Amino acid sequence: MSEARTGGSGRRAFLNWFFGTALGGLLVMIAYPIVRFISPPRIPEATTNQVEAGREDDPELREKGFKIIQFGLEPVILIEVAARDFRAFSATCTHLDCIVEFQKQKKRIYCNCHAGVYDLSGRNVAGPPPRPLTPYRVDLVENTPGQPATIVVSKA
Ligand code: FES
Repeated sequence: MSEARTGGSGRRAFLNWFFGTALGGLLVMIAYPIVRFISPPRIPEATTNQVEAGREDDPELREKGFKIIQFGLEPVILIEVAARDFRAFSATCTHLDCIVEFQKQKKRIYCNCHAGVYDLSGRNVAGPPPRPLTPYRVDLVENTPGQPATIVVSKA
């Protein structure tokens, strides 16, 4: 009789353990996706303070008068206004976030989405953009005398 009790007690303990862990596993399976959905992923902040944008004789700059570079997560438009006169602004239009371009012939920054116009100081001068473009600082760094300088863009 005591052996039967021991066997029954063992089965009950096994069933308690089995259903206890199954219930625990089920709760984890339900809770984990919810917690992952609620907590944002850990993405490091862009801590870029300075970007090398190529050499001053960059063929793309010479041909189009501008190029779009990445400054951390931010697209930046680098413009060659005249020889050795470079300017940089956030390339994100202040209206609805389209990427702007430089129109060399008209000497203006233009947004194709809704015909927004900025002057060469980044000021919004026509169309729907409500604010100027954020300016960036541009420096020419001479690495080797007699060689084209490196264009360095940094936060203004
Ligand atoms: S997004 Fe640039 S003018 Fe509308």
